[in-house]
Amino acid sequence: MSDDDTSPARGTDGADGEKQRARTDGGGGVALDPWGSATVADYRELFEEFGIEEFEAIIDEVPEPHYLMRRGVIFGHRDYDRVARALANDEPAAALSGFMPTGDPHIGHKLVFDELIYHQQQGADTYGLIADLEAHSARGLTWAEIDEHARDYLLSLLALGFDPEEGELYRQSTNRRLQDLAFELGSNARFAEFESIYGFDGGTSVSHMQSVVTQMADILYPQLDEPKPTVIPVGPDQDPHVRFSRDIARKTRYFKVTEAFASPEFDAAERVLVRRAHDKREAWAEDPETPRCEDAAAWLADAEVDSEFEAARAGAVEKLENAGMEPLRPRTRFLDRNADEEAFESLIEAVPGEKRVFDAHIDSFELDREEAEELAREVEVDNGGFGFHTPSSIYHRFMTGLTGGKMSSSIEASHISLLDEPEEGYDKVKSATTGGRETAEKQRELGGEADECPVYELYAYLLAGDDDDFAEEVYEECVGGERLCGGCKEQAATLLKEFLADHQEKRAEAEELLADLDIDLDIDASRRGIPGDEE
Ligand code: TRP
Ligand code: SF4
Repeated sequence: MSDDDTSPARGTDGADGEKQRARTDGGGGVALDPWGSATVADYRELFEEFGIEEFEAIIDEVPEPHYLMRRGVIFGHRDYDRVARALANDEPAAALSGFMPTGDPHIGHKLVFDELIYHQQQGADTYGLIADLEAHSARGLTWAEIDEHARDYLLSLLALGFDPEEGELYRQSTNRRLQDLAFELGSNARFAEFESIYGFDGGTSVSHMQSVVTQMADILYPQLDEPKPTVIPVGPDQDPHVRFSRDIARKTRYFKVTEAFASPEFDAAERVLVRRAHDKREAWAEDPETPRCEDAAAWLADAEVDSEFEAARAGAVEKLENAGMEPLRPRTRFLDRNADEEAFESLIEAVPGEKRVFDAHIDSFELDREEAEELAREVEVDNGGFGFHTPSSIYHRFMTGLTGGKMSSSIEASHISLLDEPEEGYDKVKSATTGGRETAEKQRELGGEADECPVYELYAYLLAGDDDDFAEEVYEECVGGERLCGGCKEQAATLLKEFLADHQEKRAEAEELLADLDIDLDIDASRRGIPGDEE
């Protein structure tokens, strides 16, 4: 792979670049800070500010949507349609997520465990990893603590149904292949990006930075043997990592495929205008069979354009003028980004039919965009490249704490650990806050506020399981005033107690499975801690 690029800005380029900056100021907008507190006041802002897409819009493309999808717990995504399509067509796809072993696994982690298991059952190659390098470098946990928590996460994941024969479990610190990939990807990561994305500065430890490139490697790891659409199920706090990994994945690619109309390279907005001109060629071309660039320029200079494209007009016109008599003719373009000569030569050979070869790009008149993407990837892989698909992601809502406010591992009563004694879980639910009214009478009259109720969330996210009718019944009865909080909590507490007892039994059974896996859960003995970090 060549890396002749020293400009830190590269990668956030043009049409497919994404807004990079994660606001960590919290001032009014949303804050997405992977190492901060995980709360989101307004999910809608995530769509507008960061370009996360609404999950609802693509749920119909998902072959058998999980109940977390059906109930809107999974609310957002990036490019998940690609993964859904691959799964629907029995084509290769992968899913991966990671867990920082900083405490007990709790019911918030269970959401992600379930998402992984779901994708595994849908046929994706599925990976679960323990982010121990991150826990050590960003959170300062000792290796002994990490060993213990790592074990607990893995046991719960197995107990919930992850199949380790079909999928892969690993910890970052002992995965050499992963670390080699992290090193390679580091060539495409600039300190300036760490500053702007994560707010890193001169006081940030090098190990913390290394844990970031390690996460980039985690995200692309499922594609090492073969590129495939990959989904990363996470909370929205991890979106800065997702965006960065998407950028890095693109930067490693040998070729970029774009739509073009003539020899000049138009940017995304200019392309819209030029496409318009081409569509309207009957109106301005002397011979609509061979419309000329300079005539298109003359037309476009006076054409009516939407105000959002006004800024792009001058550039488009100038480029068309410079192309003069050259015909305006749609084509698919392969831009050389990182290919060496050999790879470029093999692409030239591989492009079928009519084509035009330039210094740093090839135009094809026969391939559509998708075919071209596929060919570019094939040639890249054949010539020693990764050929990564830009990774996709899905985002789930954070659970509300049982005490109101956020669910946090550091507030004991706010969360339910998967290791809580069943009786303890029962008690926590019984003393949870609710969306109920002050008196039973008012509750019957006005109904409860299920949407504001952490107990209802428990039903929807966990206790109702796959049974939509049950979840709906609880909701309707609550808001209809037929359900009172005392009985409702009793029912939830009992179900939770049963769930915990059952889960813990399955954890005990998973011990054997875990022992058979090739995962070293006692690395404390072989490593020495790094003292101190900036946090
Ligand atoms: N940073 C994640 C967390 O804080 C853990 C993680 C590491 C991860 N590598 C990952 C998550 C890859 C998703 C994909 O929980
Ligand atoms: Fe919450 Fe149940 Fe009370 Fe409704 S009845 S507010 S769901 S505890």
